[in-house]
Amino acid sequence: MDFKGKDFLKLLDFTGEEILALIDLAADLKAKKKAGVAHRYCEGKNVALIFEKTSTRTRCAFEVAARDLGMGATYLDPSGSQIGKKESIADTARVLSSMFDGIEYRGFGQSIVEELAEYASVPVWNGLTDEFHPTQILADMLTIREQFGYLKGIRFVYMGDARFNMGNSLMVGCAKLGLHFTACCPEAYFPDKALVDTCLEIAKQSGATLTFEASPEKAVRDADVIYTDIWVSMGEPVSIWEKRIEELSPYQVNTALMNMTGKDSTVFMHCLPAYHDLCTQVGKEMGEKFGRDSMEVTNEVFESPASIVFKEAENRMHTIKAVMAATLGGVK
Ligand code: CP
Ligand code: NVA
Repeated sequence: MDFKGKDFLKLLDFTGEEILALIDLAADLKAKKKAGVAHRYCEGKNVALIFEKTSTRTRCAFEVAARDLGMGATYLDPSGSQIGKKESIADTARVLSSMFDGIEYRGFGQSIVEELAEYASVPVWNGLTDEFHPTQILADMLTIREQFGYLKGIRFVYMGDARFNMGNSLMVGCAKLGLHFTACCPEAYFPDKALVDTCLEIAKQSGATLTFEASPEKAVRDADVIYTDIWVSMGEPVSIWEKRIEELSPYQVNTALMNMTGKDSTVFMHCLPAYHDLCTQVGKEMGEKFGRDSMEVTNEVFESPASIVFKEAENRMHTIKAVMAATLGGVK
C-alpha cells in the first residue's frame, strides 16, 4: 500500500485494510525500537507541530517519533503562532509547506484541519479536533490487538459522551475494523445520526455491529473492552461540569460496572488524561465542588490490573510514527 503524500485527517478517509496496514507498520516500528534497531526512514526531513489546544501524549509522540525517524520537529504552541489570529489557515498552510515536509494540527473544528490540508502541499495529520482523534484510535486498536490477539469480533463498549472526538472516532474505527461497538450514555449523548448512518453502511462490509444503549448493565454484558473519556473536553466551558456530572455519573466506570461484564478478561481503556482522583488541578477543584473523589473512572479501576491505559499511551508514539513514515514515503 502506498500512503506517500496522503493526509491523515480522519479514519473515514481510509479502508479497513489501509488502517490495518498502518497498525502493522506501527507494530513493526515498535519491535524495531524495542530491539534497538535504527529506523531513520525520513532522514533530513522536518515536520511542523501545530497545537491550538494543549497536549502531553500527542505532542511527545510526534516529537519522539520524528527524532527516531531522523527528522527535525518544530512545535507551535497554543498561543505562540499567528494561526487564525493574524494569519489565515490557507496562508499558514502555504508558508509551512514551503519549509516542512509534513504538518500536524491539533485544534477545534475538523473543517480547520481539512482546510489546512486543502492548501498544504505536504501531508497534514490530525492530532485531534472536536470531531475526530484518528491517531488515538490507531494506538487503541494496536493495544487491543496486543491484548487479545485479534480485532474483528471484539466487544467494545464506550461509556460517556459519545458525540465528541473520542466517541465518534472509536465508532468509525470499530466499524472499519469489524469490532462490535456499543455507545452507552443518555440518548442526548449518542453520536450524530449522519455519522451513525455512515458507520452502519461501513459495518455491513466489515461485520461490525453498532449498538446505542442507555442502560450500563445491558451495555457491558460480555464486553471485552470498556473505554471512557473525560466528561468535559478541551474547548468546552467550565460551566458545563455540573450538568455533565449530573447526566454522566451513572456511566462512570467503577468496579461494579467492570464486574457486570461477566468476563475476567475485560480490560479498561482511556485515551487520557483522566480524572480518576483529586491529584490534578481540575479534578480537585471539580471534585471538591461536587463532592466526588473521581469523575469518569474510579481510581480503583484506573489502577487495577484490568487497566491497560499506559500501554495504550505508549502506543501513541509507535502509531504516530507509522503515520508519518508511511505518508512521508519513508516506508511502503
Ligand atoms: N490522548 C491524548 O491525545 O492525550 P494528549 O491530550 O495529552 O495529547
Ligand atoms: N475528548 C478529549 C480527548 C482528549 C485526548 C478532549 O477533546 O479533550
